[in-house]
Amino acid sequence: MLALNTNDIVGLCALLGCSAATVVLLLRWLDRKRIGKQVRLARARRDAALGRMEEAVRRLSAEHPVADPEGILSLSLPELASKLKDGSLSPEMVLHSYMRKALDVTSELNCVTDYLPECETQLVHLRGQKTKGLLYGVPISLKDNFNYTGHDSTLGLLNQLNRPACEDSVIAKVLKVQGALPFMKTNIPQSMLNYDCSNPIYGRTLNPLNHKKTPGGSSGGEGSLIAAGGSILGIGSDIGGSIRFPSAFCGICGFKPTANRLSKLGVKTSSAGQKSVAAMIGPLARDVDSLVLCMRALLCEEMFQLDPTIPPLPFNEEIYSSTRPLRIGYYETDDATMATPSMKRAVHETKELLERAGHKMVPFTPPSVEKSMFELIVKGLLADGGSTFLDNFKGDQVDPNLKTQVSTYGLPYWLKIFISFIVKPVFPRLSKLLQNIKGIRSVKDLWKHHLEVEAYRQEFISQWKKLEIDAVLCPILSPALTIGYPGKLSTAVSYTILYNLVDFPVGVVPVTTVTKDDEEGLKAYKGHKKDYWDKLLKEALTDSIGLPVSVQCVALPWQEEQCLRLMKEVETLTQERRTSNF
Ligand SMILES: *[C@@H]1O[C@H](CO)[C@@H](O)[C@H](O)[C@H]1NC(C)=O
Repeated sequence: MLALNTNDIVGLCALLGCSAATVVLLLRWLDRKRIGKQVRLARARRDAALGRMEEAVRRLSAEHPVADPEGILSLSLPELASKLKDGSLSPEMVLHSYMRKALDVTSELNCVTDYLPECETQLVHLRGQKTKGLLYGVPISLKDNFNYTGHDSTLGLLNQLNRPACEDSVIAKVLKVQGALPFMKTNIPQSMLNYDCSNPIYGRTLNPLNHKKTPGGSSGGEGSLIAAGGSILGIGSDIGGSIRFPSAFCGICGFKPTANRLSKLGVKTSSAGQKSVAAMIGPLARDVDSLVLCMRALLCEEMFQLDPTIPPLPFNEEIYSSTRPLRIGYYETDDATMATPSMKRAVHETKELLERAGHKMVPFTPPSVEKSMFELIVKGLLADGGSTFLDNFKGDQVDPNLKTQVSTYGLPYWLKIFISFIVKPVFPRLSKLLQNIKGIRSVKDLWKHHLEVEAYRQEFISQWKKLEIDAVLCPILSPALTIGYPGKLSTAVSYTILYNLVDFPVGVVPVTTVTKDDEEGLKAYKGHKKDYWDKLLKEALTDSIGLPVSVQCVALPWQEEQCLRLMKEVETLTQERRTSNF
């Protein structure tokens, strides 16, 4: 086989006197070949990792047989953790049961990208430990972007392949100190700045509830795997809803704390350095108790030692277990993305349940979300005109779901201004988007932008204080969108990304499912602006009967425990209603 590089081709062509067009075609062909080869190698490596996992299942299940694996898989995390602690289940039994299930699940849904065989050596270490951590023997999955020694964090990008981490992320270290067994890594959308879940390396992850719908992103592999029962606890990251979308779209629970409550050391992002919109990591699981147990375990001395920038605040049991009635603000829609009938109903019914349970519900209107979406969020995320984001794609193949973003962000400065001007009368929102993604060109203007973000945050807080509320209940964009739409609807993330902007802890709880009436009501959906994006959103949310719809629970910065308490109440009340209906 001839191995030609670019220079050879150009030289050869000069020699043979071929046309410039031929040279370009040849170079493109070479590039496609290179990319194809990289992808094949990466997939072969993933298949080998899964093969190794299968072997481990065979070995472990022969040595530690389990009579009833379904019994283990059906335990809640607190139940499982207590059985591991009292020794009625061994870590080996639990690990191979979950591994086998995860292999099954990923063969259908394509959510696992890597096996972490170090979990097998860790089993040996666990036996030697004198005190059992809070997550002793609990298998846990990690999103692709959490550095784990010896393994790639790919972000679905070719240029990140074959760059294994030389150190664990702090969170992985803390999980292990608490006895957890990280055993797999999970899929993400390319670059992660998207809420679908597909990339050219590992392909598309499916939603376990409906294969035509996205599992959400960017922690989509986690959402899909956990909802399908292949993992009991996962760690994801969130810069605009990346923990909350997969949780809502797959019908599980997810939690995004205040930006600095947990350590982000060793967690990769595709636009490092961006400070206007706060990224954060957090857990995803089947129920709120699991999220609480995970937070309790992570908020420990080891994490405060490993990352001294984290405020040493252990989990506040008093706030979490308080039964004092709350004053809760709520809104059924924001002014940026009109909530659909099912989203409004989810909030409305939850509000009624909370009211009946003795809480005081008061209408709350956040300061203009539509304005903050464009002038603070979009402008801040792409303050560099998108160049950091676009650098990720150099020499790479762009996933079809990222094409709209990549081509829009990649327009030259003057063209963004020009098109923004032209489309203003017919498509004002596109005009605003282009106006705000052209980039901030001076340090002075960037500082001014930072001030505006801070002012919005303070305005939000004073609104909150005026009403004397403890928490907020609001919609999350749900149910799951049809595959292919999220990349074209990046501004529809207003409900979630708002809480990255103001940097409040926020979690997601499923409360209902789409009914026939909701679907009928959606037919009349026009949105606030009645423009192309509103039309697309309606399309994306159609054909969803039976899919889960969730709500968000929000608290003030550093009030994670208050937020989780409200989530727990919402979950309990929703379950009580469900059982009393039967
Ligand atoms: C993750 O690991 C890679 C490879 O060792 C390293 O280059 C990168 O800086 C690490 N990322 C973070 C966020 O620490």
